[in-house]
Amino acid sequence: MIRLGIGDVTKPLVPAVLKAFHAGVDDMAKGSSFHGYGPEQGYSWLAQTIIDKSYAPLGVELKTSEVFISDGSKCDSSNILDIFHLSCKVAIGDPVYPVYNDTNVMVGRTGQANEQGYYEGLVYMPCTEENNFSPALPTEKVDIIYLCYPNNPTGTVATKEQLKVWVDYALANDAVILFDAAYEAFITEAHIPHSIYEIEGAKQCAIEFRSFSKTAGFTGVRCGLTVVPEALMATTENGEKVALNQLWNRRQCTKFNGVSYPVQKAAAAVYSDEGWPQVKEIIDYYMANAKIIREGLEAAGITCYGGVNAPYIWLKTPAGMTSWDFFDKLLNECFVVGTPGSGFGPSGEGYFRLSAFAERDNVEEAVKRIVEKWGK
Ligand SMILES: Cc1ncc(COP(=O)(O)O)c(C=O)c1O
Repeated sequence: MIRLGIGDVTKPLVPAVLKAFHAGVDDMAKGSSFHGYGPEQGYSWLAQTIIDKSYAPLGVELKTSEVFISDGSKCDSSNILDIFHLSCKVAIGDPVYPVYNDTNVMVGRTGQANEQGYYEGLVYMPCTEENNFSPALPTEKVDIIYLCYPNNPTGTVATKEQLKVWVDYALANDAVILFDAAYEAFITEAHIPHSIYEIEGAKQCAIEFRSFSKTAGFTGVRCGLTVVPEALMATTENGEKVALNQLWNRRQCTKFNGVSYPVQKAAAAVYSDEGWPQVKEIIDYYMANAKIIREGLEAAGITCYGGVNAPYIWLKTPAGMTSWDFFDKLLNECFVVGTPGSGFGPSGEGYFRLSAFAERDNVEEAVKRIVEKWGK
């Protein structure tokens, strides 16, 4: 049985990260270097490292007060709803990372789902083969827009020109973009933006989420970050302007007590001179897996998307099978597990997601089995 379903990493932490993690634990053993409660926003030395190593090279200037260290981007992309009024109109992609849909359901914003699975209170933006998985602007006014690039599940990306359309929409409509960049480290093409703040005006309209999970194998360690620029204002029901940075800071200070000190030490080591090449080697390994999957299946006549700037391959199910029929056949006849596209939303029907987070021999074997079964 080969698992290419859930997007969990398979490689362990790299040596430089482990060294820093251990050192962080050792610090906790001595009174002189013990750390109790840390800042709810995260240690400023980690925020500064992220700014210097990951944002400055993109030409993006940030202050440490705009970077909030957290226990992951799943948590933050959910928790962020705490600072928005229930009456806000929310737009999400279809298919989509299910967390955006389900957390809005859970806070009570959506009402009931119809037969197709669409919730009445949400605005869905279909991402289909026809629009190259790049959704059109909503036709009604929305207040919050979730964008995820590189995208889970379709593996597609947005160019600067495409992101500018969203930023312009948000600025013109007083909307906030929730930009999930959990997979930015997997971008391989130089012209693709890694951050929404590479787009002029984005600091006035966007919050960005990032994660160490897939970038550096932190899925079980837990560390991410959320950028809330100080320039980002939102309008209350009374028409008053409020700074979302202050609201998020208040939310974090009230409901969160920060990420543990050894974890933040480990996260900082991701960007060290020793750490980054080690981390990058693993990212390249997963992306080589993605290439093997994509090129192997395409050569056998299966239509694939993604896998170039993202660790996911979004394939069109052979012979027009439904996503779940393909799942069953793949499981029972090839002993390979993947994720049915319809699980990400109604427009995912007829598609299937394969993850590149796996060991090479498993990837090669899975591709061989799929090609033997469905290859032309
Ligand atoms: C789009 C997207 N955002 C966020 C996450 C979760 O990241 P984290 O582990 O930092 O919570 C995932 C994980 O699969 C994801 O696919």
